[in-house]
This record gives sequence, structure tokens and C-alpha cells, in this order.
Amino acid sequence: MKPSLRGKVAIVTGANTGIGRITAIELARQGVKVFLACRSESKTRPVLEEIGRLTGDVERAQFLSLDLGDLKSVQHAAQVFLSTGLPLHILVCNAGLAGQKGMTSSGFELAFGTCHVGHFLLTKLLLECLKASAPARVVVVSSKAHRHAKDIDFAALRQTTASTGGLKEYAVAKLANLLFVSELANRLKGTGVDVYALHPGVVASDVWRSVPALLRVLIRPFMITPEQGAATSLWCATAPELCGQSGGYYENCRVQTPSDVALDQNLAVRLWQSSEDWTALLQQ
Ligand SMILES: NC(=O)c1ccc[n+]([C@@H]2O[C@H](COP(=O)([O-])OP(=O)(O)OC[C@H]3O[C@@H](n4cnc5c(N)ncnc54)[C@H](OP(=O)(O)O)[C@@H]3O)[C@@H](O)[C@H]2O)c1
Repeated sequence: MKPSLRGKVAIVTGANTGIGRITAIELARQGVKVFLACRSESKTRPVLEEIGRLTGDVERAQFLSLDLGDLKSVQHAAQVFLSTGLPLHILVCNAGLAGQKGMTSSGFELAFGTCHVGHFLLTKLLLECLKASAPARVVVVSSKAHRHAKDIDFAALRQTTASTGGLKEYAVAKLANLLFVSELANRLKGTGVDVYALHPGVVASDVWRSVPALLRVLIRPFMITPEQGAATSLWCATAPELCGQSGGYYENCRVQTPSDVALDQNLAVRLWQSSEDWTALLQQ
């Protein structure tokens, strides 16, 4: 994709900070028109202004209101984007949270509802647009933490976070990201829309906000910067050599084998079907 990014259109979720912010800025610098799909316009405004300054084009980046925990908001965001009549070449499902507890307003465990269900519905609603814009890509920011999830307890997905630090549920949410990519890639074979999952590295971003301040200071030297963390997202979104290699999982811009459970096709199909049922019901 890289030689001709000018004229391309992307959506990056969670682009007001961290890895998503750098992903949006770098895509914009390469000529892509970027929609920053975030829940707070005031927190996104500085990034929009930064992109305007860096590219000399105030139209290069736009805010798209999106709360992934609220499926009505997801539906509205997709409608607003589709109403622009623009093509969509790159969808980066980046937003997420870790170590927080609760439920989304649409009734899912917080990490699962945000990382998986919201992105599942957003992608589905944009799928025809992606296909019509092919070659196109969907990039899903998962995590190495998916390896801690050995299975999915489907009943727990509709309940509040049960584990003490919420990291057990985060692992399940990131496993769901990988199963989603695997099944989406199967369903998109032959359409020209490629799908990629990735682990960005351990990145010094706001994702650690629920970790005690002292511990955060201690672990920060061992983390990479958001610029380094965005490298694999950008690689998956733009590298010409990845064209047609759909369904892979990447770390450090290199393909990796995910956990055995992430390769379980039956589980991927079950998650897809459940996600279809949940989102169909909640959209009514
Ligand atoms: N940092 C790491 O070490 C690491 C490692 C592995 C994977 N990851 C993954 O990388 C991705 C980006 O994380 P990051 O490190 O850049 O974290 P971050 O700095 O905390 O950014 C997370 C982004 O997600 C957004 N978000 C959270 N809940 C949302 C919702 N309901 N609707 C819309 N947006 C929402 C946040 O918006 P607000 O600012 O409004 O909260 C923020 O823009 C995540 O999927 C994370 O799981 C990160």
C-alpha cells in the first residue's frame, strides 16, 4: 500500500492518546485522511491540531464520536462515517483498556465489551464500505496477554469483571481480538480486504493508569515509547509486502504464532455467532 497512501482514508479508534495517537499522526503524515474515532472531542482536539500543524492541512484529520462500550454510539459512528460517502481503506481497531473493572453500558464485561464487542460491530457496519474500497485492511491491536487466557467462559462475558485486577478478563478480551481476526479473515477471502492482529510491545502509555503510581515509575524504564509501540500497527496498516497475507498475528513487525486457543476455529466461529446475536439484539 505504501507508495500511494495519498488519497487513502483511515479510521483509528482510541486515537486521542498512546499508540492510537501515533498511529493516526503517522498515517496522516503519509498522506492518509484520518478519522480519529474517540469518545471525547476535547481530548482529541490537541491531536487534530497537531496533525493540522504537521501536514499543513486542517482537513487531514477529523473527529468521529465513538464510545465502544455503547453499541448505539458505535452504530451512530458508522452511520456518520458512511454518510460522508468516502471510501475506507484502513480500519485500525486500537482502543482498549486494561486492569479496569465494570461493565459497558451495553451490558458486557468492561474489557471484553470495549476491546471486542464494540470493534466487532463497528467493523461489521463498515464491511461493505471496506470491500467497495479494496484493497483495504483491518488492523486489530491485540496483546501478548492473550496467552494467559486458556478458554472463554461465555457466561462471564455478560457479567461485571470478577478478577481482582481485571487482568484475567483483559487476557480474554485480547484472545477475542485474535479469534475475531481469524474468522474475519476467513469470511473476507477473495474480497481484497486483509485483516491483521498484533501485539504492540509493552508500551509506556495511559493503559497503565490503574497501576499504582510508584509501580508505574518503576516499570516505565522497561517499556518502549508509543512511537515504537505504533510501529507494528503502522506496518500492518501500510506495508505493501503484507498484501494478501490475511489473518496473521504480528509482533515487532514479524509474524508470530499465537496461542493454541487463539487458533481454535470452532471457538472463533462460536464467538462470531455470539457476537452477531448480541449486537443484533442490542441494535434493536
Ligand atoms: N500499552 C501497552 O503496553 C499495550 C500492550 C499490549 C496491547 N496494548 C493495546 O494497545 C491498544 C492501545 O493501548 P494504549 O497502550 O495506547 O492505551 P491508552 O494510551 O490507554 O489508549 C487507549 C485508548 O482507548 C480509548 N478507549 C478506551 N475505552 C474506550 C471506549 N469505550 N470507546 C472508545 N475509546 C476507548 C481511550 O480513550 P480515553 O482516553 O477516552 O480513555 C484511549 O484513546 C489497546 O487495545 C491495548 O490493549 C497495549
